[in-house]
Amino acid sequence: MNTFRIFSTCNIGEEALERLTKRGYQLEVYNEIDPPPKALILEKVRSGIDGLITTLRDAIDEEVFNAGIGSLKVVAQDAVGFDNIDREAANQCKIPFTNTAEVLTDATAEFALFMLGCVSRKLYSSELIVRNRVWKTWHPFSPILGDEVTGKTVGVVGTGRIGKAFAAKCLGLEVDLLCADPFPDEAFVKDFQKLLDLRFELGLSKKGNTIRYTTIENLLGSADYVSLHVPLSDETYHLIEEHALHKMKKTAYLINSSRGPIVDEDALHAAVKQGQIAGAALDVFETEPLPEDSPLRDSEIVERVRLFHHFASGTRETRLSPDPEIGMAGRCVQGLIDVLEGNYGGNPNNMPFVVNKEAFE
Ligand code: GLV
Repeated sequence: MNTFRIFSTCNIGEEALERLTKRGYQLEVYNEIDPPPKALILEKVRSGIDGLITTLRDAIDEEVFNAGIGSLKVVAQDAVGFDNIDREAANQCKIPFTNTAEVLTDATAEFALFMLGCVSRKLYSSELIVRNRVWKTWHPFSPILGDEVTGKTVGVVGTGRIGKAFAAKCLGLEVDLLCADPFPDEAFVKDFQKLLDLRFELGLSKKGNTIRYTTIENLLGSADYVSLHVPLSDETYHLIEEHALHKMKKTAYLINSSRGPIVDEDALHAAVKQGQIAGAALDVFETEPLPEDSPLRDSEIVERVRLFHHFASGTRETRLSPDPEIGMAGRCVQGLIDVLEGNYGGNPNNMPFVVNKEAFE
């Protein structure tokens, strides 16, 4: 039996966590809905735990890693994004950390598409019209109309796993796709184009759609929908600010399911309010939860801005499945087990869920 001591900053899913206790691990879970204070995380790390399970709400910085030198063997993050983890500090302390890439790709990509549809077709306003008894009769254009997605141009900013999956989910909408990425995957675009051509040949789309890489400037200027799929870094912080928003079409929508700080929210508020863009749908924010005084809560833009509670990966399957091939909880626990039990020859560099492999080359 294993005697590893683990502290989990959150109940990431009972069934997955049970996999640890069944193996003999001593597991302590911070069972509140809110995250634990940093001081508690530090206290647990200083007490000599072997593994720390974290969520994107926990700041796992130099102080935490330094406190773990000599005892902490792994940080297992229950998310694909890890901008809350100081990678350099992890590397200096030679502590591997893991994430849950891949298992949330489809959930996040489909949510981005649904947000796009929601804001463009005014689903929220339509429901309010019914609920508030504003709906008196069928009429061709009163009280509102939406913007049709079919046949438009969708811009995909960032063509990693989620950006590509999002593009794939757009297929049935017969849109043209413009992609921007500092590391273009030309093979992906080539294969995708074959698929678009085949759909046209088979009569499954009315016109031959296209997909291609372009610059972010061109994408912003040409797309009817701009969907963000980039990780948060120094390069992507406020990627969408005043000037970028000015480049977008007045009829275009911005969709963000990646990280909040990629969009300058003050600039976005101004752009929507002044009609420089048609609207936005956001699942992530510069500060989460969205502050009471956020400009995005402005009642004058409520019809054109959809706000969600960092929910893109929030399906039962994706969040909770104990299976590492299906759920974040399962994959998070598996990443922890791999490191602690020395799977893959005990070399973190060979472990599929370890992020900072470079520290172990
Ligand atoms: C969610 O935002 C994640 O990074 O998993």
